[in-house]
Amino acid sequence: EKGGYEHFMLKEIFEQTSSIHDTIRGRVSPQNKEVFLGGINDVIPKLVNARRILIIGCGTSWHAGMVGEYLFEEFARIPVEVEYASEFRYRNPVIFEDDIVLAISQSGETADTLAAIKLAKEAGATVLGICNVVGSSIPRETDAGVYTHAGPEIGVASTKAFTAQVTVLTMMAMLVGYRKGTLEKEEYHKLIEEFSHLPEKIAKILEKDQDIKELSKRYIESTNALYLGRGFLFPVALEGALKLKEISYIHAEGYPAAEMKHGPIALIDEHMPVFVAATKDKSYEKIVSNIQEVKARKGHVIAIVTEGDTVIADMADYVIEIPETLEALAPLLTVVPFQLISYYIAVLRGCNVDQPRNLAKSVTVE
Ligand code: F6R
Repeated sequence: EKGGYEHFMLKEIFEQTSSIHDTIRGRVSPQNKEVFLGGINDVIPKLVNARRILIIGCGTSWHAGMVGEYLFEEFARIPVEVEYASEFRYRNPVIFEDDIVLAISQSGETADTLAAIKLAKEAGATVLGICNVVGSSIPRETDAGVYTHAGPEIGVASTKAFTAQVTVLTMMAMLVGYRKGTLEKEEYHKLIEEFSHLPEKIAKILEKDQDIKELSKRYIESTNALYLGRGFLFPVALEGALKLKEISYIHAEGYPAAEMKHGPIALIDEHMPVFVAATKDKSYEKIVSNIQEVKARKGHVIAIVTEGDTVIADMADYVIEIPETLEALAPLLTVVPFQLISYYIAVLRGCNVDQPRNLAKSVTVE
């Protein structure tokens, strides 16, 4: 049932060409130039008028939530707080009745996320869910929600569920922003059009699979790794680092690239691989200087860049080119090479990638 792939994780990484399509099917229509999310249609007015949104989740779902924060801020001008469910539930969180609480969970069974939802409901907030497993506990506990439709995810390390979560968050933020008038019609239509090209762009990245395997060999003895990104790609750096540590057991940290000089840069020497999400966007010039800073300290730079980028190609040790896309959609593409790098490093180290030590697919105890 691994469909000819050696592991579920690899199968699920490759499935992202179709899973993204499944997530947007019937929801994004390039013909009518519209986004429609049936599951939350009735609460759109509440979202449009929301004073703030609280996003809760754990692990990879929390990273998707971080991308959501940038998206809602950008498109809908709504302040967002992203909370670890475990922290949120045991603090004394301030929850207003007019808050929208958005819980993100692949399994729909994560104990801490469920507990946080109960708390939000008691406080009278509107609680929405973004889940993958149909009929699981979280969709039953929430007022409304959107399924990710990524299909069953068996590998413990979340891959296609993450891109599906980010896809749903993007659709939601676009829809709310457009209705609210903070996202211009032209931009909204551009996003809708670009959505339909994402599956083929992901397929193009996956064609580089063997090159990525080759470059991964260089890092199988590493004991540490850094992941850097800015803006929409900062959460992708966090996700890249989590993928590496959970399946390869190499210690990795994700940082906003500019934070390096506030501490982590002290770690950089010739043994340190630094994975950088550096596609062309508003912060491109800044990330180029961050790469120079790493190179000046002899770090090894592996950069994910936009096709045709020669500037970074001249500075970095390796570049992985990915197709150009809109800035807000870049997380959906840049995360894919990071997933493959983690997969190959872990496999080459002899790790059990589908069932890493100490981890369970669904964390139903706190
Ligand atoms: C990482 C991973 C975990 C989960 C986390 C939340 O690859 O899979 O970090 O993301 O345990 O799980 P869900 O999304 O099921 O609530």
